[in-house]
This record gives sequence, structure tokens and C-alpha cells, in this order.
Amino acid sequence: MTMFPAKVKYLHRLLQLKHTLWCSPSLGKAPCSRLVLGIETSCDDTGAAVLDETGEILGESLHSQKDVHLRTGGIIPTVAQQLHREHIERVVQEALERSDVDPSRLSAVATTVKPGLALSLGIGLEFSQKFVRQHNKPFIPIHHMEAHALTVRMLQPVAFPFLVLLVSGGHSLLAVARGVDDFLLLGHALDEAPGDALDKVARRLSLIKHPQCSTLSGGQAIELLAEDGDRTRFPFRTPMGQTYDCCFSFAGLRNQVNMTIMKKEAEEGIEQGTLLSCVNDIAASAQHTVASHLAKRTHRAILFCKANGLLPSDSPTVVLSGGVASNQYIRKSLTIITDATGLRLLCPPAKFCTDNGVMIAWNGVERLREGKGILPPDVDVSYEPKARLGVDMTAEVKAAAIRLPSVRMKISK
Ligand code: KG4
Ligand code: ZN
Repeated sequence: MTMFPAKVKYLHRLLQLKHTLWCSPSLGKAPCSRLVLGIETSCDDTGAAVLDETGEILGESLHSQKDVHLRTGGIIPTVAQQLHREHIERVVQEALERSDVDPSRLSAVATTVKPGLALSLGIGLEFSQKFVRQHNKPFIPIHHMEAHALTVRMLQPVAFPFLVLLVSGGHSLLAVARGVDDFLLLGHALDEAPGDALDKVARRLSLIKHPQCSTLSGGQAIELLAEDGDRTRFPFRTPMGQTYDCCFSFAGLRNQVNMTIMKKEAEEGIEQGTLLSCVNDIAASAQHTVASHLAKRTHRAILFCKANGLLPSDSPTVVLSGGVASNQYIRKSLTIITDATGLRLLCPPAKFCTDNGVMIAWNGVERLREGKGILPPDVDVSYEPKARLGVDMTAEVKAAAIRLPSVRMKISK
């Protein structure tokens, strides 16, 4: 829909007026909701957003580095750092302007400080510390995975505790969220994350040369091609079938896929870098195995939670989030498990699954409401590239050695 500039200006004025009236104490209205600016730079997205206490997004801005990293064949940390440096000021400015909020009206600034790429985290943290000192605002350091886990609560009421599966380019973890800063870690990635593995498979298949995939991330490209593929053609082994815990491993699967690719290249007499005729079937088989691994680990986590009374009997919930959670086939495979175990599955829409400033601002709101982890502007904070989420329960989960009943993973396309 296009709007005439005059109409846009008029609407903007109207919104400003509404805001002035609402916030005016002399008119006896409720006091203004507290406002939080969130800043995200932990990986390859520079994001900022202003949220009020109810979770309404007043303004946001996001600069994605995806296209640059697609061309260079993966994230080069110094390049990511340079791009964050070039864009952070504009992105934060844009989020403030779009929300029509002057920095003086902010109640706090929340910024990702862990885990992530050191060089990327450093840019967001340095910018934020300067900003909070300049405007004399409290600072809320944010754990990136805590933010992914809590995003769902911005969109709908989801009470603690709930089980959360977070899958992205940098992480794979299962945890029980018991409170804003209270997590039990049931499983984590032992080698690479599922998004990373899919990105590497996509690169090995040279999917960037595929006419339908040139602008897609590896995971998105695999999902698209898998729609027209036969997942039974390459029966890859689901990882860690003999390890009865909730940890994840994707490096071995990637190796299996690579071996198949090499074999097929030899059979078709083509060089690495040329598109194979069976890319759709490889994509479908790899995606199915990733989905099956995630589903099995989640199934065991649900049984562990049930055995230990970690979830409520009323409406027990699994939340699926992180970049890989936008994959519909993976969502469906998780639904099979939650249906079989009597839980409900919640997934934020794709734009809230991937990295953004909104989820960081929301985490700031949740912490502000509870008065947890709010620092004065002059406190020095360090970033932490590696940081586990919550209390590590992986040994207890392993010791329980829960065997899974078989569940038929028949996933419709
Ligand atoms: O959460 P995110 O934006 O960034 C972090 O890694 O923290 O996730 C990006 C990852 C990439 O590896 C990308 O390939 C993957 O999420 N991804 C997908 C899909 N969309 C993005 N993986 C599978 N299917 C998708 N549709
Ligand atoms: Zn993320």
C-alpha cells in the first residue's frame, strides 16, 4: 500500500499527539510505560529496537550482513566487526527515530554481551557503554540465548517453567526455562550447530550458484530444495543413536553428506563447484536427518522433564526458536513429538526466531520488571564469547539414560 507524504505526516503527528496525551501526568492518565533500547551485535546482524514494558515494538532497525558473508563463503570475524562498526550508530539512531523516542526517555539500555563472536560483541558493548554514560542510563547486559528463549513471552503469555529448544548457526541447546534468569541446561552442541552444518553443506553443494538459492542462507536453501527432493534416497544415520542424553552433534552428519557428495560428483563426472543433479534429494535427506536428531533429543528431554516433575501438568510447553526454527519441516517433526507426548509446541514467527534487536530489548524489559542484572552506567562490563546458559544438568540427563519409544517420523511436505 502506498501513502501520500502528507497523509504519512498527518498520521505521524496524530501518533505523537496520542503519545503526548497518554504520557501527560497532568491529564491523570496512567504513567508512561518504561522504555528499553535493545542492541544486538553478537554475530552477523546489527540490530536495535525500542520496546515499551508491554512488549510493544515502538521502533526497530536491522542491518543484516548475510549477503556479504554468503559471497565470502562464511563469516570472517574481522569483516563482521568492520560491518558492525560501520552500521551500529545508524541502526540505533533509526530505531530511536522510528519510535520517536529521545534517549532521555529511555529507562535502560540492554545489549548482548555473551555468547558470540568476540570482535562482534565488542562493537555492541563499546557503543552501548558510551551511550549509557553519555545519557546516564542503566545498563542491562544480555545473554543472547536467554533472549532467544524469552522472545515467545513478548508475543503471547507463556508461564514459567517451559522447555526450550534453541537452534541456530551458532547454537543448539535444550533447557528448562524456570525464570527470567533461571535455566536448567539439559543438552548442548558437542561440535557444530545445526545451522552451521546446513550452511556448510549448502556451500559444499555450491547452492549459491542455484538460480533459486543465490540470496538465501544455507539453511533456507536446503529447505527450499528439499521440497522437491526424495528424503529416502540417501539414508544418512541419525547422530548419537547410542548415546542416551540430550546433547547434539552435527559434524559427523556433515561428514556423511560430504562423502555422498564426493561419490556423486565422481559418478556424474563433475568437479567440486558444479551443481549436482541430485541436490534436491541430498537436501531432503540431510534436512530429514537434522530434524530427526533434533526431534529425538527433544523427545528425551520431555521424558526427563516428566520423570523429574520439571514441567507443569497444566499446558506443558516446548518453545522452539533460533534461526533454524524457521524451518517448517523441523517444526513439523517437533510437532510429531509434542503431539505424542501431550505437550504444546510454540514457535515465534520466523522474523523473531532469527537475530534482532527486539529480542534483546524484550529481555531487557523482563529483567527491568524483575529488577535483575541492572547496572549503573559507569560499571565496566566485559563480553564473553563462550557462556553456558543456566545450571548444567547434562550429566544427570546422561545418567538417566532414557530409552525412547519409537515414534514414526512421517512428515508431510
Ligand atoms: O539465529 P540466527 O539468525 O543467527 C545465529 O546463528 O545466532 O540463525 C542463523 C542460522 C543460519 O545458520 C541459517 O542457515 C539458519 O539459521 N536458518 C535456517 C533457516 N533459516 C535460517 N536453517 C534451516 N532452515 C531455515 N529455513
Ligand atoms: Zn541467535
